[in-house]
Amino acid sequence: MKFFKSFYFFSLLFLFNLPAIAQKASKQKVINPSAVWPDNQGNHIQAHGGGIIKLAEGYYWFGEYRAKDNDPKFRYVGCYFSKDLINWKFLKKIQFADPEQLGEGWVLERPKVYYNEKTKKFVMYMHLDSKKYLYARVGVAVSDKADGDYTFVKSFRPLGMESRDIGQFIDDDGSAYLVFESRPSKGFYIAKLSDDYLDVAEETSFIRAPLEGGAIVHYKGLYYAIGSALTSWSPNPNKFAYAKSLAGPWSEFVDIAPPATNTYSSQSTMMIKVQGSKDTTVIFMADQWKPRAQWDSRYLWMPLEIGDGKLKLPKPQPWTLNIKTGKAKIQDN
Ligand code: GAL
Repeated sequence: MKFFKSFYFFSLLFLFNLPAIAQKASKQKVINPSAVWPDNQGNHIQAHGGGIIKLAEGYYWFGEYRAKDNDPKFRYVGCYFSKDLINWKFLKKIQFADPEQLGEGWVLERPKVYYNEKTKKFVMYMHLDSKKYLYARVGVAVSDKADGDYTFVKSFRPLGMESRDIGQFIDDDGSAYLVFESRPSKGFYIAKLSDDYLDVAEETSFIRAPLEGGAIVHYKGLYYAIGSALTSWSPNPNKFAYAKSLAGPWSEFVDIAPPATNTYSSQSTMMIKVQGSKDTTVIFMADQWKPRAQWDSRYLWMPLEIGDGKLKLPKPQPWTLNIKTGKAKIQDN
């Protein structure tokens, strides 16, 4: 009897499109730091050193697409979409063909995409460099669609400065900023973008701390900045400072995690604030680089313990996020 019942049930499932139901059933419920993170096609997400923007329809994640089978002449930016920040749909592998003729080993890193309400354009910033990292500029490319073909516009040195790692920050009032590390200045800049986002309009803040992977969040009346030391692909103890105004003055930088863990073997990339009906969660988004197998580099995302000028990255473990209420819950072991 039992057999017939389940047979009947499964035939019904088939009738009502089993594949769709099966896919729904395989939806991911947790964010699992350091694990392979499959997209909707089952491939590990390729959006390293990434950036996320929230639009009315949901979240877009852009980052370095470093698949093993990439054509070495090109560099690629992965574009993914999600409504819950956990399940990501692959949209596009955006291709760039050495726009500044930097030659073999040219570098396109840490792409960040902004949506400009006035021009209705998606504007991508990228760190452009030569193999030896001597070019130190940002590149700008535009598209009419998040997952469109991006047209390269130009490259430049923001505020006339050398620029390597870049970060993205959009304040609660919608103002858009580029964060960039500049070696000669021994620090990093937060610079406001021009109205059309195609340029950097002014220096909002210079933070004299030799840090890269700059990430900023505005949370309960304070600005927090996280950065990592300049140790290439190797992790180091990332630090944070806070300020009442984006322009500073900024507090001293202190560790976000026990220094011996080297930020649990990760490097800062961004912070995302998820404001829900009940709670606000700030997610620390970091990369766990594998320099000899970049396609397999992992992501470490964790909800931060943050507030009143304090910030702590908890020990990584699986957690859930309710995008509607804004509540994050670390799973008990
Ligand atoms: C890191 C940086 C990465 C990449 C790497 C190259 O410090 O954060 O984005 O540029 O160096 O060595």
